[in-house]
Amino acid sequence: MQVVVCKDACEGAEIVTREILNALSRKPGLVLGLATGSTPIGVYERLVTAHREDGVDFSSVQTFNLDEYCELAAGHPQSYRTFMQKHLFSGINIAGENIHFPPNEGPALAEKCLQHEEEISQAGGIDIQLLGIGSNGHIGFNEPTSSLASRTRIKTLTEKTLRDNSRFYEDPAQQPQVASTLGIGTILDARSILLQAYGEKKAEAVKASVEGPISSFWPGSALQMHADTTFILDEDSAAQLEMIDYFRRSRAEGIRMREENTI
Ligand code: F6R
Repeated sequence: MQVVVCKDACEGAEIVTREILNALSRKPGLVLGLATGSTPIGVYERLVTAHREDGVDFSSVQTFNLDEYCELAAGHPQSYRTFMQKHLFSGINIAGENIHFPPNEGPALAEKCLQHEEEISQAGGIDIQLLGIGSNGHIGFNEPTSSLASRTRIKTLTEKTLRDNSRFYEDPAQQPQVASTLGIGTILDARSILLQAYGEKKAEAVKASVEGPISSFWPGSALQMHADTTFILDEDSAAQLEMIDYFRRSRAEGIRMREENTI
């Protein structure tokens, strides 16, 4: 696991965007796992700019979003499809058929979720999985106590997640209680994982995920089992890390060795 402590969220978004654009230049048919929420917006803005100003081509890219609310129509202002359309898809030349979301409507939802796993495999697997993290440590909507081997399925949202997201709903009765989400096992299958976390509210979840024991109670801690995961943090979200000085030094050493062409 690598931990990069940035000066702010802008520097973090720059790093993640550069990783994606470099990977895209090597593989035009890149398969991206995407997150919603406030955390990845800076990356999406930069990808849109790269397309508009530098002509970066997304026509062969495939995307798989992490999660989607159940019982919200696709065009609902709070649906994750609407979010992605607004922040990324409408600004790049991605083909509609290359955009995938976990199934969120019945009947036979459980079966459709398993078929979704098949679609990911048929696309060749996820190359880069972008993640945010909930203040309770959830990744995707894998809430605390989710199986570390879980696959795409329906999850009931915890009170904490509902509270964190309640600001988006004027009428609390409209807030969905249930979502479909890629499982932790599905996420761990991605070749590379980039988790961004910014702000003090994420500090406890970051501490538990990076330095705590692996536990389904803090789903982000499952990433310790992945061979190519990077946590991209700002000073506030990194504030509780005991090893923060080590992470800073290790980043500086990495930069020096790359400049000297040692690695
Ligand atoms: C959203 C998702 C969630 C968010 C998390 C953080 O697709 O997978 O796990 O990443 O809830 O949300 P923000 O970024 O709004 O703090």
